[in-house]
Amino acid sequence: MSERIVTMISKEEIDKRVHELGAEISDHYRANPPVLVCVLKGSFVFAADLARAIDAPVRIDFLGMRSYGEGTESSGVVQITQDLSRPIAGEDVLIVEDIVDTGLTIAHLIDLFRTRAPRSVKVCALLHKPARAKVQVKVDYLGFTIEDRFVVGYGLDWAEKYRNLPYIGVVERS
Ligand code: IMP
Repeated sequence: MSERIVTMISKEEIDKRVHELGAEISDHYRANPPVLVCVLKGSFVFAADLARAIDAPVRIDFLGMRSYGEGTESSGVVQITQDLSRPIAGEDVLIVEDIVDTGLTIAHLIDLFRTRAPRSVKVCALLHKPARAKVQVKVDYLGFTIEDRFVVGYGLDWAEKYRNLPYIGVVERS
């Protein structure tokens, strides 16, 4: 069986949208730069580009989460594999997610962070698949709404492959 990746969102479209999001975030947080929380592993590419598109001295931290096994269906069980390196009490936190699918990961993170007394918690996601929502979450900054397809690239994987593609694509098997 062979696999090929069909482009859904090109590198150029992503670059343009990431810069628009960066400008919006810079405006919103002008007085108080946020802590960007990069949710690993999938958000590492998006967070790196977004951070450089933000014109403010942000702090960056990383949180490891796992909700998928080797397949394309969320296990529904959200596990923290690596916690933040510093407290977030009194901070404006901006969670940077690759994709909001069922919404379980983000809902879990928002609940967790609220117990740590930050000043605010907002969400920036590159992609949103509303058709798959199991819980409603507010995405404050959104790159693209996409249809219900399993996508790879720009940090997103399929069984740990394809994270390094510079665009978002759909895996086709024949
Ligand atoms: P949720 O908890 O169902 O919203 O899923 C969140 C996580 O599942 C994301 O951060 C991704 O790592 C992963 N995920 C969801 N949909 C996709 C997809 O289409 N491709 C790759 N990973 C996905």
